[in-house]
Amino acid sequence: MPHPAPADPHTARHPAPTSQGRDRWLMAKKFLTRGRSVASFAPSSRAMARKMLDGIDWDSARCIVELGAGTGPITAELVARARPHTKLLVVEIDPEMGGRLKAKFPQVDVVVGDACQFDRLLADRGIPQADHVLSGLPLPSFPADLRDGVLATSARVLSPAGTFRQLTVMPLIYYRLYARYFQDVRFRFVARNLPPGGVYVCRGYRG
Ligand SMILES: C[S@@+](CC[C@H](N)C(=O)[O-])C[C@H]1O[C@@H](n2cnc3c(N)ncnc32)[C@H](O)[C@@H]1O
Repeated sequence: MPHPAPADPHTARHPAPTSQGRDRWLMAKKFLTRGRSVASFAPSSRAMARKMLDGIDWDSARCIVELGAGTGPITAELVARARPHTKLLVVEIDPEMGGRLKAKFPQVDVVVGDACQFDRLLADRGIPQADHVLSGLPLPSFPADLRDGVLATSARVLSPAGTFRQLTVMPLIYYRLYARYFQDVRFRFVARNLPPGGVYVCRGYRG
């Protein structure tokens, strides 16, 4: 009797296409009902997720935090790439999307709550620092004090070689905003996303 073909580990770790259709619908619905606090009508593409994670040293990464995970396109890439020793902490404020994240990624520590207090979440878990903070939060539309808080907290919890990475669907428009907070800001353009966008990779918090 022939043996079944071995499962492709990448396919096995990624949600089925039907799940992608449901995610698109959920994101569009949230965009229509919650507008600026969601800020995007479609989940990030795989190209965007890959760009977000580009250059991460998986051997040394002990903790990666994702803020504003939505339906989880970046979480999926994280799960596919992270080593067993890497703690993944994922925060999403919307209960429906948070529930979906928990169902899709039972192996991940998903918190349904406000990302503005994520330093407390780390402290509760006895984690002193994060190697990378990946943000899908619509920070430009946050009130200035909350935006300052998220960025200052990220800078405080990051390891010396760590990065703060911010997703955007408005290529380069907010470069100056992040350059106000960080000494070194690189923008990585992603054409294959709806709409095209990119990732700011930030180091050296100005304080
Ligand atoms: C632009 S979407 C990005 C979703 C996902 N990361 C992606 O790439 O498709 C922004 C997400 O941030 C979430 N969000 C907004 N404010 C938040 C907050 N204060 N704490 C946690 N999540 C928040 C929204 O609910 C939404 O899911």
